[in-house]
Amino acid sequence: MRYPFQKHFLVCIGGRCGNPDRGIERGEFIHAELKGHNKKMGRKPLVRVCTVSCLDLCDHGPNMIVDGDVYSHLTRELAREVYAGVMGDGPRRDDLQLSEAEFQSGASAAVKK
Ligand code: FES
Repeated sequence: MRYPFQKHFLVCIGGRCGNPDRGIERGEFIHAELKGHNKKMGRKPLVRVCTVSCLDLCDHGPNMIVDGDVYSHLTRELAREVYAGVMGDGPRRDDLQLSEAEFQSGASAAVKK
């Protein structure tokens, strides 16, 4: 079968994106914010907002992946703006995507592959 959901927002709640030092701007709160917003928008049957553990991009978090694109240094508000842009509710926020230069300069395990 084909998985019935059309879109996936993968919010990292790993140890660094979810570090309690980030207060309410950490992964689990970003996830809760987006999940609640998605439900309010009536998109729960079509769009999943999921948690994931570490994406090997810890230097740049909090991170979220949508359609293979990485959005970094997120807060709850910025994640909402990403969601709005991806879903057509507002302007796209491609400026919040992790740049290739920053990715390459980081020490994340993903860059070493
Ligand atoms: S904890 Fe989020 S990328 Fe590692």
